Amino acid sequence: MEETTNSCKHIAIIMDGNGRWAKKRGMPRTFGHKKGAENVINITRAMKESGVKFLTLYAFSTENWQRSKDEVDALMGLLREYLDKEFKEIMDNNVKLLFIGERYMLSNDIIEKIEYLEKESAKNSDLTLCVALSYGSRCEMINAVKNITKDAVDGNINIDEINEKMFSSYLYTKDIPDPDILIRTSGEQRISNYLLWQIAYTELFFTNTLWPDFNKDELLDIIKKFNTRERRYGKN
Ligand code: FPP
Repeated sequence: MEETTNSCKHIAIIMDGNGRWAKKRGMPRTFGHKKGAENVINITRAMKESGVKFLTLYAFSTENWQRSKDEVDALMGLLREYLDKEFKEIMDNNVKLLFIGERYMLSNDIIEKIEYLEKESAKNSDLTLCVALSYGSRCEMINAVKNITKDAVDGNINIDEINEKMFSSYLYTKDIPDPDILIRTSGEQRISNYLLWQIAYTELFFTNTLWPDFNKDELLDIIKKFNTRERRYGKN
């Protein structure tokens, strides 16, 4: 793609439609998640080629804990599998991994794995892959409010200093720019508690494609469309 015209630094994706993809094939939902996880690898590779520096994926929401135990176990099983299997590719491709969300809700072995991966990949710099895991935006903002309040009560900050920049610095996403593009697959047109603060000026793209079928061509097409949109605010 013509990188000269690409002003997109950060793409966030709501990967929706795994269940419907599987149902259309008469397969269990977990089969759709397996295909969805495979597609995470394809799209991450495509993203690296496109020159976009940050990719944030909604892998598991705080609401997703309410799905059946079998489905949650299958998703966590896939996560374990991919975190182990893809470690080499992540390091070989100079990808930095970040995990955002309520990690205390995850099992200890997963917490250990993600902390290890974050530490090992911290100096990588071609692409930052941010995985929203056990993530909910309202919860993230409530945590920020609590921490700001604590710092104010402890005298570390002055209430008059609280502004948008400071609030952002209390979010899980403090080290990454706000998304330029948000993509939701599968035809649903809602935000589902994803990066609510961070997408204030983000360009939204909705596609009917189910996540396992979302491919590099469609991604590049969205980036191209983004580059033709006039943006007054939100340029990182
Ligand atoms: C939505 O499909 C997808 C998710 C629950 C999250 C995305 C998960 C993956 C891409 C698999 C990899 C993630 C992990 C945690 C290893 P859906 O089940 O909502 O589909 P539906 O709306 O068609 O039912």
